[in-house]
Amino acid sequence: MIILLGYMGSGKSAVGKHLAASLALPFLDFDDYIEEKEGMSITEIFKSKGEIYFRKAEHIHLKELLAHKPEVVLSLGGGTPCYSGNIELILAASKHVFYLNTSIPVLTGRLIKEKSHRPVIAHLNEADLTEFIGKHLFERNAFYRKAHHSILVKDKSIAEIASEIKQLL
Ligand code: S3P
Repeated sequence: MIILLGYMGSGKSAVGKHLAASLALPFLDFDDYIEEKEGMSITEIFKSKGEIYFRKAEHIHLKELLAHKPEVVLSLGGGTPCYSGNIELILAASKHVFYLNTSIPVLTGRLIKEKSHRPVIAHLNEADLTEFIGKHLFERNAFYRKAHHSILVKDKSIAEIASEIKQLL
Protein backbone atom coordinates (compact mmCIF):
# COMPACT_ATOMS: atom_id res chain seq x y z
CA MET A 1 0.00 0.00 0.00
CA ILE A 2 1.23 3.45 -0.96
CA ILE A 3 -0.19 6.29 1.13
CA LEU A 4 -0.28 9.97 0.19
CA LEU A 5 -0.89 12.63 2.78
CA GLY A 6 -0.77 16.42 2.89
CA TYR A 7 -2.86 19.54 3.20
CA MET A 8 -6.13 20.06 1.31
CA GLY A 9 -5.28 21.08 -2.24
CA SER A 10 -1.80 19.55 -2.24
CA GLY A 11 -2.74 17.22 -5.10
CA LYS A 12 -3.08 13.92 -3.22
CA SER A 13 -5.95 12.66 -5.35
CA ALA A 14 -4.60 13.83 -8.72
CA VAL A 15 -1.13 12.42 -8.02
CA GLY A 16 -2.60 9.27 -6.46
CA LYS A 17 -4.71 8.51 -9.54
CA HIS A 18 -1.76 9.03 -11.84
CA LEU A 19 0.56 6.92 -9.69
CA ALA A 20 -1.99 4.13 -9.35
CA ALA A 21 -2.50 3.98 -13.10
CA SER A 22 1.23 3.83 -13.77
CA LEU A 23 1.68 1.04 -11.20
CA ALA A 24 -1.46 -0.81 -12.33
CA LEU A 25 -2.86 -0.61 -8.80
CA PRO A 26 -6.36 0.47 -7.74
CA PHE A 27 -6.69 4.04 -6.44
CA LEU A 28 -8.64 4.74 -3.27
CA ASP A 29 -9.64 8.21 -2.09
CA PHE A 30 -10.24 8.04 1.65
CA ASP A 31 -12.79 10.89 1.59
CA ASP A 32 -14.86 8.88 -0.92
CA TYR A 33 -14.47 5.79 1.27
CA ILE A 34 -15.79 7.67 4.32
CA GLU A 35 -18.70 9.08 2.30
CA GLU A 36 -19.64 5.60 1.13
CA LYS A 37 -19.40 4.10 4.63
CA GLU A 38 -21.37 6.95 6.21
CA GLY A 39 -23.90 7.18 3.40
CA MET A 40 -23.52 10.95 3.05
CA SER A 41 -21.09 13.57 1.79
CA ILE A 42 -18.34 15.02 3.98
CA THR A 43 -20.12 18.39 3.84
CA GLU A 44 -23.34 16.76 5.07
CA ILE A 45 -21.51 14.95 7.88
CA PHE A 46 -19.96 18.22 9.10
CA LYS A 47 -23.30 20.02 8.79
CA SER A 48 -25.57 17.46 10.44
CA LYS A 49 -23.23 15.74 12.90
CA GLY A 50 -20.30 18.13 13.39
CA GLU A 51 -16.53 17.86 13.12
CA ILE A 52 -16.06 15.80 16.31
CA TYR A 53 -18.32 13.09 14.88
CA PHE A 54 -16.45 13.28 11.55
CA ARG A 55 -13.05 12.83 13.24
CA LYS A 56 -14.33 9.81 15.19
CA ALA A 57 -15.79 8.25 12.06
CA GLU A 58 -12.59 9.03 10.13
CA HIS A 59 -10.55 7.21 12.79
CA ILE A 60 -12.83 4.14 12.87
CA HIS A 61 -12.91 3.80 9.08
CA LEU A 62 -9.15 4.32 8.80
CA LYS A 63 -8.44 1.58 11.35
CA GLU A 64 -10.77 -0.81 9.55
CA LEU A 65 -9.38 -0.03 6.11
CA LEU A 66 -5.71 -0.30 7.12
CA ALA A 67 -6.33 -3.60 8.90
CA HIS A 68 -7.14 -5.14 5.52
CA LYS A 69 -3.80 -3.96 4.11
CA PRO A 70 -5.29 -3.33 0.66
CA GLU A 71 -2.89 -3.27 -2.30
CA VAL A 72 -3.86 0.23 -3.40
CA VAL A 73 -2.64 3.78 -3.73
CA LEU A 74 -4.49 5.53 -0.92
CA SER A 75 -4.92 9.29 -0.70
CA LEU A 76 -5.96 10.48 2.76
CA GLY A 77 -8.00 13.50 3.82
CA GLY A 78 -5.94 16.55 4.78
CA GLY A 79 -6.73 16.12 8.48
CA THR A 80 -6.55 12.33 8.67
CA PRO A 81 -2.95 12.04 9.95
CA CYS A 82 -3.48 14.78 12.54
CA TYR A 83 -6.07 13.22 14.89
CA SER A 84 -6.56 10.24 17.24
CA GLY A 85 -3.09 8.74 16.80
CA ASN A 86 -3.90 8.11 13.14
CA ILE A 87 -0.36 8.89 11.98
CA GLU A 88 1.00 5.95 14.00
CA LEU A 89 -1.57 3.62 12.43
CA ILE A 90 -0.63 4.91 8.98
CA LEU A 91 3.11 4.45 9.48
CA ALA A 92 2.58 0.96 10.90
CA ALA A 93 0.44 -0.07 7.93
CA SER A 94 2.79 0.95 5.11
CA LYS A 95 6.47 1.51 4.44
CA HIS A 96 5.57 3.91 1.64
CA VAL A 97 4.02 7.01 3.15
CA PHE A 98 4.56 10.24 1.18
CA TYR A 99 3.91 13.83 2.22
CA LEU A 100 3.03 16.15 -0.66
CA ASN A 101 4.71 19.28 0.64
CA THR A 102 3.14 22.42 -0.84
CA SER A 103 3.66 26.14 -0.14
CA ILE A 104 1.04 28.41 1.41
CA PRO A 105 0.62 30.61 -1.74
CA VAL A 106 0.08 27.55 -3.96
CA LEU A 107 -2.45 26.10 -1.52
CA THR A 108 -4.30 29.41 -1.19
CA GLY A 109 -4.46 29.85 -4.96
CA ARG A 110 -5.92 26.37 -5.42
CA LEU A 111 -8.23 26.33 -2.41
CA ILE A 112 -9.88 29.69 -3.02
CA LYS A 113 -11.41 28.06 -6.11
CA GLU A 114 -12.14 24.72 -4.48
CA LYS A 115 -13.20 25.53 -0.95
CA SER A 116 -16.96 25.08 -1.24
CA HIS A 117 -16.89 21.29 -0.71
CA ARG A 118 -14.34 21.58 2.11
CA PRO A 119 -16.21 22.46 5.31
CA VAL A 120 -13.04 23.32 7.26
CA ILE A 121 -12.38 26.35 5.02
CA ALA A 122 -15.64 26.94 3.12
CA HIS A 123 -16.55 30.03 5.21
CA LEU A 124 -13.24 31.91 4.69
CA ASN A 125 -12.56 34.76 2.25
CA GLU A 126 -9.25 34.96 0.36
CA ALA A 127 -7.41 37.18 2.87
CA ASP A 128 -8.48 35.06 5.85
CA LEU A 129 -7.76 31.86 3.96
CA THR A 130 -4.05 32.72 3.59
CA GLU A 131 -3.73 33.43 7.29
CA PHE A 132 -5.72 30.33 8.24
CA ILE A 133 -3.68 28.04 6.01
CA GLY A 134 -0.41 29.46 7.38
CA LYS A 135 -1.34 28.63 10.97
CA HIS A 136 -3.09 25.36 10.17
CA LEU A 137 -0.21 24.06 8.07
CA PHE A 138 2.25 25.00 10.81
CA GLU A 139 0.26 22.83 13.28
CA ARG A 140 -0.30 20.00 10.86
CA ASN A 141 3.28 19.86 9.62
CA ALA A 142 4.22 18.19 12.91
CA PHE A 143 2.17 15.18 11.71
CA TYR A 144 2.81 15.40 7.96
CA ARG A 145 6.58 15.44 8.49
CA LYS A 146 6.43 11.98 10.07
CA ALA A 147 5.82 10.50 6.60
CA HIS A 148 8.72 8.44 5.24
CA HIS A 149 9.29 10.89 2.40
CA SER A 150 8.51 14.54 1.87
CA ILE A 151 7.97 15.40 -1.79
CA LEU A 152 8.31 19.07 -2.72
CA VAL A 153 5.38 19.86 -5.00
CA LYS A 154 6.41 23.41 -6.10
CA ASP A 155 5.67 23.85 -9.82
CA LYS A 156 6.07 20.19 -10.76
CA SER A 157 3.47 18.48 -12.92
CA ILE A 158 1.34 15.62 -11.62
CA ALA A 159 3.32 13.20 -13.80
CA GLU A 160 6.64 14.50 -12.42
CA ILE A 161 5.52 14.11 -8.82
CA ALA A 162 4.19 10.61 -9.49
CA SER A 163 7.45 9.56 -11.13
CA GLU A 164 9.47 11.02 -8.22
CA ILE A 165 7.40 8.87 -5.85
CA LYS A 166 7.81 5.82 -8.06
CA GLN A 167 11.60 6.13 -7.90
CA LEU A 168 11.43 6.04 -4.10
CA LEU A 169 9.42 2.80 -3.89
C1 S3P B 1 -10.14 17.88 5.66
C2 S3P B 1 -9.76 17.57 4.39
C3 S3P B 1 -10.67 16.96 3.41
C4 S3P B 1 -11.77 16.15 4.12
C5 S3P B 1 -12.44 17.00 5.15
C6 S3P B 1 -11.49 17.56 6.20
C7 S3P B 1 -9.14 18.53 6.56
O1 S3P B 1 -9.93 16.12 2.53
O2 S3P B 1 -11.24 14.99 4.70
O3 S3P B 1 -13.10 18.04 4.47
O4 S3P B 1 -9.38 18.63 7.78
O5 S3P B 1 -8.06 18.95 6.06
P1 S3P B 1 -9.01 16.69 1.29
O6 S3P B 1 -7.63 16.96 1.84
O7 S3P B 1 -9.01 15.53 0.34
O8 S3P B 1 -9.67 17.91 0.77
